[in-house]
Amino acid sequence: MRILIKNGYIIDPSQGIDGVGDVLIEDEKISEVRSQKSEVRSQKENKLKTPNSRLGESPKETELRTIEAKSMYVFPGLIDMHTHLREPGFEYKETIKTGTMAAVRGGFTTVCAMPNTNPVNDNSSVTDLIIRKAIQEGACTVYPIGAITKGQKGEELAEMGIMHAEGCVAFSDDGSPVMNSLVMRRALEYSRTFNVPIISHCEDMHLSEGGVMNEGLLSLTLGLRGIPSEAEEVMVARDIALARLTNGRLHIAHVSTEGSVRLVRQAKEMGINVTAETCPHYFSITEDAVKGYNTNAKVNPPLRTQKDIDAIKQGLKDGTIDVIATDHAPHHRDEKLREFDQAPSGISGLETALSLSLRLVYEGVLTMAQFVEKMTANPARILRLDKGTLKVGSDADVVIIDINKEFKVETEKFSSKGKNTPFDGWNLKGMAVMTICKGKIYDIS
Ligand code: DOR
Repeated sequence: MRILIKNGYIIDPSQGIDGVGDVLIEDEKISEVRSQKSEVRSQKENKLKTPNSRLGESPKETELRTIEAKSMYVFPGLIDMHTHLREPGFEYKETIKTGTMAAVRGGFTTVCAMPNTNPVNDNSSVTDLIIRKAIQEGACTVYPIGAITKGQKGEELAEMGIMHAEGCVAFSDDGSPVMNSLVMRRALEYSRTFNVPIISHCEDMHLSEGGVMNEGLLSLTLGLRGIPSEAEEVMVARDIALARLTNGRLHIAHVSTEGSVRLVRQAKEMGINVTAETCPHYFSITEDAVKGYNTNAKVNPPLRTQKDIDAIKQGLKDGTIDVIATDHAPHHRDEKLREFDQAPSGISGLETALSLSLRLVYEGVLTMAQFVEKMTANPARILRLDKGTLKVGSDADVVIIDINKEFKVETEKFSSKGKNTPFDGWNLKGMAVMTICKGKIYDIS
């Protein structure tokens, strides 16, 4: 089938496209993009010289579906480089099927699955299982992220080479840090061989031990043990030092503090090979969301303070933070119903990330192009994925967004099994109304 998306406002930072135009999809690939502020791009240059290029032609043999996208934005499908799909092992929290459906509803066409499954994705059989399941049941593309260490125990390196050959696009022990600096050094050295990033969950387990929320006056008032910002920052500093030592590729996951932003900024200025991501909850709400012992606001690293939010926004604006990722961490309702100390950490993020992040554009923190870049071209560049672009010949992954559409977050309507979000009941503006994954249309509105 051929699909013609007409009259949308196209932004594709990978090619500098920023203007009203049309996108033509053929055989599950982008076949032509024509926009007013950019030159016409098509599969064969000579087609452009004829007045009747493909976009102007009427369908002949193949069926043509035309989608009117006037007053809508058209972006490359979003990429989430930090998703917990929970399969294998925790299917009661989420499956590849439900997690990828949630992704598509949120405008994502590619997600990268963290390895803290059961068994852990620390060997090529688990990697293979995830890839196969995703092909069979996934609504969008899934790339597995392999564990840095066997069992994510932080002791012995996993078979990163074999897992990379099987399809892992990065390595991370996310959920836990690699506390042993020598192991982290070796991981950064080893991963250089195949030019993939090490994604670091920065947490000093000694400083964070027993902590369940941000350390400060509020944790004292609530009688909950706190996690100081420094638990994150000492590890950010260590890993930056190790990246300098090894020249390995370091990516800092879920940046939550002002100090971490400063450290990453300095490291980039020094030319160290580091990139960073943050998540919508770290620039949308403070630790105040925990008040009332709301376990849906329990997340690791914890929600911080307004000064951290301000620094993260500045970091996003000036390019210190390259990526907005979700850290989609679905948990079962019963687990989140436990007392605050006992409940697991995590926020179900795929179905709110786009709308929460668009607020940065409405507030003037990011331009629309910067916002799109942080959710498409930048994660694609860091992971070296042939995704996040509308380049002719690439997979037909597209999202159509209505930025004027207002809606209320209703977790009962989530495709994700994880209803755990502190944003339930929020009124948000701007959402994906159609997501196209490799030419397959998901009509969301
Ligand atoms: O809050 C979190 N939940 N942070 C992590 O690093 C892991 C995640 C999970 O897997 O639930």
